Amino acid sequence: MLTLVSLASPRRLIASIFAIVLAVHYLFSLIYQDYARLSSWSHLRDQLITTHNQGNITNSTLGTPESNDPRYFENVTVPLSYKRRANATFVFLCRNNEINDVVTSVQQMEDRFNKRYNYPWVFLNEEPFTEEFKQRISVLTDAPVSFGLIPKEHWFQPEWINENRARAGRIQMMAQGIIYAVTVHREQQPAYRFRYRNMCRFNSGFFFKHELLQQYRYYWRPGVQYFCDLNYDPFVFMEENNKVYGFTISLVEWEPTIRTLWPTVKEFIAEHPEYVEEQNSMAFLSDNDGQTYNLCHYWSNFEIADMEFWRGEAYQKFFEYLESKGGFYYERWGDAPVHSIAVSLFARRDQIHFFRDIGYRHSPFQHCPSGSDWEVGRCACDPNDRFDYAPNSCLLKYESLFW
Ligand SMILES: *[C@@H]1O[C@H](CO)[C@@H](O)[C@H](O)[C@H]1NC(C)=O
Ligand SMILES: *[C@@H]1O[C@H](CO)[C@@H](O)[C@H](O)[C@H]1NC(C)=O
Ligand SMILES: *[C@@H]1O[C@H](CO)[C@@H](O)[C@H](O)[C@H]1NC(C)=O
Ligand SMILES: *[C@@H]1O[C@H](CO)[C@@H](O)[C@H](O)[C@H]1NC(C)=O
Repeated sequence: MLTLVSLASPRRLIASIFAIVLAVHYLFSLIYQDYARLSSWSHLRDQLITTHNQGNITNSTLGTPESNDPRYFENVTVPLSYKRRANATFVFLCRNNEINDVVTSVQQMEDRFNKRYNYPWVFLNEEPFTEEFKQRISVLTDAPVSFGLIPKEHWFQPEWINENRARAGRIQMMAQGIIYAVTVHREQQPAYRFRYRNMCRFNSGFFFKHELLQQYRYYWRPGVQYFCDLNYDPFVFMEENNKVYGFTISLVEWEPTIRTLWPTVKEFIAEHPEYVEEQNSMAFLSDNDGQTYNLCHYWSNFEIADMEFWRGEAYQKFFEYLESKGGFYYERWGDAPVHSIAVSLFARRDQIHFFRDIGYRHSPFQHCPSGSDWEVGRCACDPNDRFDYAPNSCLLKYESLFW
């Protein structure tokens, strides 16, 4: 290996040394939990990582003076160079009683990014939004805001699901102590009874079919908490670099929620090898070339992605296949592993992007940028408090796709 490396370019050599350093570091952090926190290596690593494996943020990424839709910028003061717009929107799936959390999230997104860009907001709910909800959102932004109702057939457990079997699955998971498997509270309120499962299925197969989203291509699922200013447009970045999926946190799934998901995926790709991209990232999903799933996935409560990918033939066929097995209800297949498996297999690995410059938290995990990203972003997080290389994180697997 060393001979090969020495023949390669200095960049490759440096990348390989990083790889070895990181691998050693990773082993140490697996063995000694406090190692990562204590070691000054992590600072060194931050420096190394910051310059390594990063999409180029070029002037063209920041945009050219012409705008797709100049109307949005009439009353917005942004530097001219930012004024190119992507075909994109925020999507927020939420309920009326979540208004306080939603307001916090929207306010942070507006202050840290969107007040300079004015991308539209789309809120979706299984019930009609109240006037109070709409009013409290509307004072937070000058961007276009719309509120949509989810069609029943995109939300509720389909008739053909065998409820006895689904209940047995829920009870089994409850016995295993799986969070969200079912709660007494939810069981007592039929409307919310299966909400988590409905939500996972909706996010997997239906949100991008909602009429309010038809006019858009890229979306950002904003999630919970933002720490940093974002001084460029990640939508334009996605568009110009032909990215399909962007994430901030990756981790391993609870196995009992997806017991038969991987065998189902294997059946699907055996039937449809034509959909599997040659430059795929199976190595992110599996440590033995696809025999078993290592449970790695991108955490989908934050997502910036291309809906044309979900609307495309490969994903549509894939979702139909998963849906036909009933695993969204018989088990608790999450949209995170479903999305992650699909982009890893049906998109090129260089179409998946780690937004290392976006500081994001969804309790209990967070990603805090480091180095100059942290400074420039005026980040309000502790740069040492990062899930990135914790034992259950899959970031190193993602990064090693590019070594
Ligand atoms: C970044 O820029 C360098 C130099 O211009 C180029 O060689 C490289 O391919 C670019 N990387 C990406 C991911 O666009
Ligand atoms: C980016 O734009 C600035 C100002 O217009 C210019 O000075 C700089 O050379 C440009 N950089 C690249 C990489 O084009
Ligand atoms: C911009 O502001 C002017 C004056 O307040 C207003 O008439 C116009 O409708 C605004 N444009 C947009 C796109 O909101
Ligand atoms: C934005 O994307 C959607 C979905 O791909 C497409 O239907 C629409 O025409 C696009 N809009 C513009 C302005 O390009």
